[in-house]
Amino acid sequence: MFAKIIPPQEFAWRRQVLLERIGEGAIALVPAAPQAPRNRDVHYPFRQDSDFYYLTGFPEPEAVAVLAPGNEQEFLLFCRERDPLMETWHGRRAGPQGAVERYGADHAQPVGEIDKRLPELLENRQRVYYSIGYNPAFDRRVMDWLNQVRAKSRSGVRAPVEFIALEHVLHEMRLRKSAAELAVMREAGRVSAEAHVRAMQTCKPGVMEHELEAEILYTFMRHGAGWAYPSIVGGGANACILHYTENNAPLLDGDLLLIDAAAEMDGYAADITRTFPVTGRFSPEQRMLYGLVLAAQQAAIAQVRPGKRWNDMHDAAVRTLTEGLVELGLLIGEVDKLIEEEGYKRFYMHRTGHWLGMDVHDVGDYKVGGDWRAFEPGMVTTVEPGLYIPFGSEGVAERWWNIAVRIEDDVLVTESGHEILSAAVPKTVDAIEALMGGG
Ligand code: GLY
Ligand code: MN
Ligand code: MN
Repeated sequence: MFAKIIPPQEFAWRRQVLLERIGEGAIALVPAAPQAPRNRDVHYPFRQDSDFYYLTGFPEPEAVAVLAPGNEQEFLLFCRERDPLMETWHGRRAGPQGAVERYGADHAQPVGEIDKRLPELLENRQRVYYSIGYNPAFDRRVMDWLNQVRAKSRSGVRAPVEFIALEHVLHEMRLRKSAAELAVMREAGRVSAEAHVRAMQTCKPGVMEHELEAEILYTFMRHGAGWAYPSIVGGGANACILHYTENNAPLLDGDLLLIDAAAEMDGYAADITRTFPVTGRFSPEQRMLYGLVLAAQQAAIAQVRPGKRWNDMHDAAVRTLTEGLVELGLLIGEVDKLIEEEGYKRFYMHRTGHWLGMDVHDVGDYKVGGDWRAFEPGMVTTVEPGLYIPFGSEGVAERWWNIAVRIEDDVLVTESGHEILSAAVPKTVDAIEALMGGG
């Protein structure tokens, strides 16, 4: 089966919406991602800039999209020229003709001509929409082009007077996912879930963390996907390190294993964490803490529906976790006070989720007008409470040490509630033990 992709008409629709929102008199400039050198002649694998890709679907570096409402050519794409020699060495290029024919540009020209053309496109435009500060080299070029227009003021040319952050308009669009985006995200969730199931089935004492990472990446690539972020495969004490990525230790009998790994498909991320025993069977302490995190996650997921505010799920998770920690004797005190004074932060130090989309920590404001944003259909958030009890935790009985649990799912807000995009990977104690043959 082919990987799911966003169809060309969707990119055209996105550009149309943006053209209408910025309106006549405006111009938007969106550069492709720069290539990052890794060592000598080798680059890091190229990942297109999410904003640029959202508007163009164009996968190459060294490109700039210009959207000019009311212009005879409203969507201009500057890109690399076809070049048989370069293409033999480095891969195919669309060229300006391909940019028009395959990517819907009204006009395309070689990126080498942009310095000549751009000042003229800025002339007599009132507003420039551009995300300043992310690409310093491109920032300087924008200022050069602007100064060239200003220099012509005595010949009656007006230079733009307003600079507006493009991300403000564009990220509101990206926050609400279309049907086509959701189809891709469901597939990214399904493939990621398959990878987690494979890791659970392969796991046993003595296996190396990186061997399970290999099973995960194998599953992504078999489905035409890549990784959305470097995989975290941490056993025992390693699971207490939130962004552990060395993945180079053997998995030990009696330890829990935390895997935070997910696929990116056609530019869209999943983000899934599961925690399970290396042997396939939870110890009593592991079972208790796991059950508590799962209860917190279920309480949080119940808050994901239209009208609920973004922070409600975090509040629900914090309350469940704090109550449970007091019951287990891991926190001492009164629940409300422990919440107010953030006593739980010793064991739960991160937030309960983040927007998910093209970026794993996706764009979109969390507060609007000073209040937490209300969920609307089409938004996707992760829900990922956890508890981390490192080795040597003072005042905590030894039997709890090195237990770390995080459970993370990807949750779409629907008209009537929510849909879990990552549901195909088991998460109850019974389901995990049954899958791993440890029950
Ligand atoms: N995998 C990154 C995160 O969970 O936020
Ligand atoms: Mn996450
Ligand atoms: Mn994650």
